[in-house]
Amino acid sequence: MATNRVIGNGNAIPWRLPEDFRWFRQQTLGKAVLMGRKTFESVDRRPFPERLNIVLTRRPRRYASEVRQKDPLLRIRIRLNPISRTSSGRMMERTLKLGSGDVVFIRSLHQVLRYAEHHDVMVCGGANVYAQLLPLCSTLFLTRVKQEVAGDAWFPAFEHWFERAEILRDTPEFTIERWRRTGSD
Ligand SMILES: NC(=O)c1ccc[n+]([C@@H]2O[C@H](COP(=O)([O-])OP(=O)(O)OC[C@H]3O[C@@H](n4cnc5c(N)ncnc54)[C@H](OP(=O)(O)O)[C@@H]3O)[C@@H](O)[C@H]2O)c1
Repeated sequence: MATNRVIGNGNAIPWRLPEDFRWFRQQTLGKAVLMGRKTFESVDRRPFPERLNIVLTRRPRRYASEVRQKDPLLRIRIRLNPISRTSSGRMMERTLKLGSGDVVFIRSLHQVLRYAEHHDVMVCGGANVYAQLLPLCSTLFLTRVKQEVAGDAWFPAFEHWFERAEILRDTPEFTIERWRRTGSD
């Protein structure tokens, strides 16, 4: 986030930091990345390769068919209702094993929360999804951009749930920090 907490503008990230993108890739490869539908739009509906892409939307069927029109070869799963722990876990695992860049559209956080009991899920934004899920996260990797930026999406307050554990990188343009959950409400 920027010094004024901006993370997005016009449904795009308002800075270009290749080193930060490389860091993001490194941290998320082989894992599940969870994002809101608007963030998926912001990356031009291109799933992140070599990761299981989980996209939250209240209309997964309709949205999936729109996305399929653009890329008929994309492997897409749609989950509509909360399902049992076992079948949710198995569904996600099977999808993950399918390989790179698969997408699951879901309309409920339930399935992700069950899956997250046994797997790392990297919450990747945007503002709306961060606000819902930050209270449930154990670790926060935060890139702080060292400038004020105009925007229309902001990172929610998190400081009362987390404490800073370490600064992982410090460059003239940004820092990357690891924060851990304090356990207090
Ligand atoms: N700087 C960064 O690191 C970073 C990272 C990611 C994103 N961003 C920026 O953040 C902005 C987008 O953030 P945003 O807050 O506008 O949108 P968002 O969080 O990406 O997506 C919001 C959408 O997700 C779906 N959704 C959210 N919670 C849901 C739930 N509980 N159940 C079902 N569906 C749910 C809804 O989709 P439907 O409307 O389809 O129902 C909702 O409209 C963009 O500017 C993007 O560039 C920045």
